Amino acid sequence: MLKNDLLLRVLKQEIVERPPVWLMRQAGRYLPEYRKIRERYDFFTRCRTPELVAELTVQPIDRLGVDAAILFSDILVVPQAMGIPFKLLEDKGPYLDQPIRTRGDVDRVIEPEVNKSLEYVLKGIQATKERLAARVPLIGFAGAPWTIFCYSIEGKSSKDFSIAKAFAFEFPELAHRLLKKITKTTTAYLEAQVQSGVEVIQIFDSWGGILSPKDYLDYSWRYISPIVERLANLTQVIVFAKGTWFALNEMAQSSAAALGIDWSCPANVAKQLTQGKVALQGNLDPSYLLAPIPTIQSEVKKMLKDFSGTPYIAGLGHGILAQTPVENVQAFVNAVKDT
Ligand code: CP3
Repeated sequence: MLKNDLLLRVLKQEIVERPPVWLMRQAGRYLPEYRKIRERYDFFTRCRTPELVAELTVQPIDRLGVDAAILFSDILVVPQAMGIPFKLLEDKGPYLDQPIRTRGDVDRVIEPEVNKSLEYVLKGIQATKERLAARVPLIGFAGAPWTIFCYSIEGKSSKDFSIAKAFAFEFPELAHRLLKKITKTTTAYLEAQVQSGVEVIQIFDSWGGILSPKDYLDYSWRYISPIVERLANLTQVIVFAKGTWFALNEMAQSSAAALGIDWSCPANVAKQLTQGKVALQGNLDPSYLLAPIPTIQSEVKKMLKDFSGTPYIAGLGHGILAQTPVENVQAFVNAVKDT
């Protein structure tokens, strides 16, 4: 039994004493104890070493007192296991020397045995569960197929992923073939995470919002949806698809337990589009954590008021920025917990 099961209760649409709070990128560079480990091991070594995964996952639990842990890992471990050799460059982020660009490239992408090629993540989950000692639930995650597709075709971060979109629209048959491969691998991977002990799954579609409403349904939601339906038999699923307020009504008809909301969508619009069918999670602009603490406190107050009356998880509309002062992150968490 978990000592703090606030998040799980909200995901089951139960009435709770206060909203649970956790933050995307709560394990990250804003934390001095994270930076200390970062000096000694490169990023994917941190992801591949179960003891480091456990240590980094638990750091924000110990320091901030958030209501959930999110596994320290990355969405890019899935394409890596599929034979797409992502690196993480200090100044550029995700990087591929040879992005996927041709039919041959798509054909060479493998559908791995996830229990083997991603065994290190599953071991990381087990080590983390031990360290957490049932204090809070552990959230596992994966990228949405569309977001993985974007990085794999573009080969790097981009503000509009125009190469990936051009590929999708010029070679739709090839694009869907790759998206299907990613979907199959991601489904198996998330099932393995649940079997290894994660209590909640979040799917990150960071780049869903660069698509039109029609193309979002065709290239992204079409692949998220079967993952959600399959996983919902095993656990509670949160879908965070940034910039896709236009699809909230459609997504709320799924078996997702919650939908992540970013700051481009006001709480009342999100509530109206989802009609209480799912819990809502979010949605403060992470840049507010760079503002003075009294501003953070008043923004949290407004946010909680705006989302009241519906099952709700307090958080940000995207990840914590690396330059955020820890005291400000703590002030955000405290402001939610003090309500
Ligand atoms: O604390 C947590 O949120 C859990 C761990 C986590 C990381 N990445 C660790 C990480 C999670 C859930 C992710 C998801 C992820 N990774 C997403 C989806 C969410 C989002 O932010 O939109 C995406 C798009 C990625 C791909 C990725 N990984 C990028 C673009 C970058 C570079 C940009 C950056 O913020 O540095 C990464 C690296 C990364 N993933 C870091 C961390 C803590 C920073 C690595 C470092 O320099 O220490």
